[in-house]
Amino acid sequence: MKIAVLCSGNGSNLQAIIDGVKSGYIPAEIALVVSDRKDAYALVRAREAGVYRLALSIGDFKSREDFDREIMKNLKARGVDLVVLAGYMRLLSPEFIREYSDRVINIHPALLPSFKGTHAIRDALKYGVKVTGVTVHFVDEELDNGPVILQKAVDIREDDNEETLLERVHKEEHKLYPEAIKLFAEGKLKIDGRRVARQ
Ligand code: GRF
Repeated sequence: MKIAVLCSGNGSNLQAIIDGVKSGYIPAEIALVVSDRKDAYALVRAREAGVYRLALSIGDFKSREDFDREIMKNLKARGVDLVVLAGYMRLLSPEFIREYSDRVINIHPALLPSFKGTHAIRDALKYGVKVTGVTVHFVDEELDNGPVILQKAVDIREDDNEETLLERVHKEEHKLYPEAIKLFAEGKLKIDGRRVARQ
């Protein structure tokens, strides 16, 4: 099975996936890493791991659809079976979602459907919840919305700030994402409406 990892930033989840593939835990190959930012540290991680990289700027394209088509062209050329979003800060176009229907997954730093959007850690702290967590889910056309694959709770402590909470959330992400990709690669995930069964 071939996967593509789409990133925009640091790429610590990409690193966890690279490590999971290297150790044999994830039975898949990373066919390429795509970044929509040329200065993303994720690209350095990919280079160091010897993974094929593609860096694209939205500004070089006429539209978001054209940008996504260029990515799809590369995914097809490399025979990608699963698209893994790892800190990718862009919504995929409906055409992309249709083309890779049930084959795009994302990780979100909260227990969905709580705290959707880009500031999930800050929002959970601000709201005052005692428990937040991590969600891996299939991607559909709506933001942070598709069927849930795995979730893991993280307690919020009284003295937590964004930094300390983010650190503990990341720790769980780096275990949960490789696990979800492994399950997908082994053909063990079955989508039934909003529910995902593990077989
Ligand atoms: C993660 O917290 C993930 O949940 C969110 O974006 C962050 C990416 O971090 N979608 P990294 O680039 O993998 O370090």
